[in-house]
Amino acid sequence: MANIQPFTFVIFGGTGDLAARKLIPALYNHFIEKNLEVPFSVVGISRKPMTHRQFGEFFIESVKKYSRNQYDEKLFDKMISSFYYISGDLQQDSTYENLTGILNNIEGEQKNRLFYLATTPEYFPIVLENLTHYRILEKGAENPWHRVIIEKPFGSDLATARMLNKRLERLVNQQQMYRIDHYLGKEAVQNFMVLRFANGIFEPLWNNKHIDHIQITVSETVGVGTRGRYYEHAGAVKDMLQNHIIQLLSLIAMEPPVDFDADSISTEKVKVIRSLRLFNDEAIVRGQYEGYTSEKEVHPQSKVETFIAAKLEIHNWRWAGVPMYVRTGKYLKEKKTEVVIQFKNTPYNLYKNNDIDANRLVISVDPKTGFDLQFNVKEPHGANVKIRGVKMNFCHECEFGDNTPEAYERLLMDGIIGDATLFTSWREIEYSWKLAEEVLRVHAGEQPELYQKGAWGPQKADKLLKSEGRKWYHEDIRRNNANPCGDGCIQK
Ligand code: BG6
Repeated sequence: MANIQPFTFVIFGGTGDLAARKLIPALYNHFIEKNLEVPFSVVGISRKPMTHRQFGEFFIESVKKYSRNQYDEKLFDKMISSFYYISGDLQQDSTYENLTGILNNIEGEQKNRLFYLATTPEYFPIVLENLTHYRILEKGAENPWHRVIIEKPFGSDLATARMLNKRLERLVNQQQMYRIDHYLGKEAVQNFMVLRFANGIFEPLWNNKHIDHIQITVSETVGVGTRGRYYEHAGAVKDMLQNHIIQLLSLIAMEPPVDFDADSISTEKVKVIRSLRLFNDEAIVRGQYEGYTSEKEVHPQSKVETFIAAKLEIHNWRWAGVPMYVRTGKYLKEKKTEVVIQFKNTPYNLYKNNDIDANRLVISVDPKTGFDLQFNVKEPHGANVKIRGVKMNFCHECEFGDNTPEAYERLLMDGIIGDATLFTSWREIEYSWKLAEEVLRVHAGEQPELYQKGAWGPQKADKLLKSEGRKWYHEDIRRNNANPCGDGCIQK
C-alpha cells in the first residue's frame, strides 16, 4: 500500500446522493479493509440542517444501504469521532469561516486536504474561489497537499468547459485538479490496458488489418428518474458519449504509452480523441423513450435524446477504415457496458456448407465483468463437418470473487495518494467536447425517434449496421455459443 499521510476529506454536497451511494461507502470500505490506517477526518457540507452526530448517523445509513462490506458497529465507533458537518450555503462567507474553524481544531501538523465537489457544476468555481480566498485551499500546495476532485459534467459545451477551465486554472494547478470519470475506476476498464499491454497475442492483431469494426454499448434499463431537470440540459450525448464512451474508446484504441503515469497515458488518449470523427451526418441515430416527456421536470415537448447511436472513425494509421459503432441509452432492454472487438473473417471459406462467424473478443465491463474470445470448432457428430462458435472465457467473479472494490473506491484512493492516472486531463475533455458538438450539430432541433421502453432503441440503430452487413452484438448470440458449464463460468 502506498504511503498515505493523515488528511481531511471535505465533501461539498455531503448529504447528497453521490455522497450517500458512492463516497461514504468507498471511505468505509477502505477503512474496514485497512487501506486507510492513518488518521483522517471527514467534513460534510450541505444546506440540510444537521449536527455532527447526525452526519455520523447519515454515514451509518449509507454504509448499511450501499456498502459492499457489512456495517461493523465496533469499527464504526472508532470513526464517528472524526465526522464533522457544516450546514451552509456555498455562496456565504460563514460556510468557509466555519470550515476554517473546524480545520483549525482537527488538523495536526499535516494539513493535507482533499476537497470533493459533489455539487451541481455551477458551484465549482464559486466553491474554489471561496476556498482560495479563505486560504483553505492553496494553489500549488504539495506539502501539505491540497487536491480537488471534480465531478462531471465539466462544462455544458466546449465554450463553457473552456471558460470553466480558465477560471479554475487561476485558482489551482492542473496537477491539483482531479476530474473524475467514474468509468475509468471500474475494474474491467482498468483491465483494458492490462489485456492489451501485458499480453503478447492481442496487440499484433489490434489494427485495421485484422479488425473489422468495434462496438461499444452502454445501455441502461432505467429512465432519468428524479434527474429530469439535469437531463433536459444534457441528453445522452452530453451525459454519456462526451465522457464515458469516449474514454472507453480512447483506452481501447490508443497506442502503447511510454509509461503508466498520468501524463504518458493522457498523451496517448488525447491523440485518439483528437482523431475521432463522425463518419457522416447519416451515421447518427437519436432516440427518445416513450413517456420521457411526462417525466418530472421534463418539458412536455422536449426534443432531448435519451438514446444515441453513432458510427465514428479514428483518423490515424492504425484505425483508418475501421468503423467504431457506439450506442447508449436509457430504458433499453438490458443493463450492460460492453466493448466488442469484431475481427475480420478468414480470407476464404473452405467449409462450403457452413457460415463461418468471424472471431470476436467481447469485453464485458458491467454488470458482469470478463472477456470472451469467440472462435469456431467442429461439432463431434454427423457425417458432415458442422462448425459452431464457442468461447474462451475469463470471468472476473469466478476468478477473484464478488467483493471487488467499486470504481469510486479506487478513484478516491488515487485522490488521496495523488495518482491522477485514472482521471481525465483538460485536453481529453476539450477534444471530447469537440466531437460531442459535432454529433449534436447534426439533427439539432429535430424530434428524436421514439422507442418503446425495453427495446434496443429506435430501429434505425439496427439499420445503421445492417445496411453495412453488420449487426449489434446481443445476448442471444452469446447464448447460442454458450459455454456448457454456464454463462460466465469457467470449468476448473
Ligand atoms: C452517470 C450518468 O455518469 O453514469 C448517469 O450521469 C448514468 O445518467 C450513470 O446512469 C451510469 O453509470 P453506471 O456506473 O451505473 O454505468
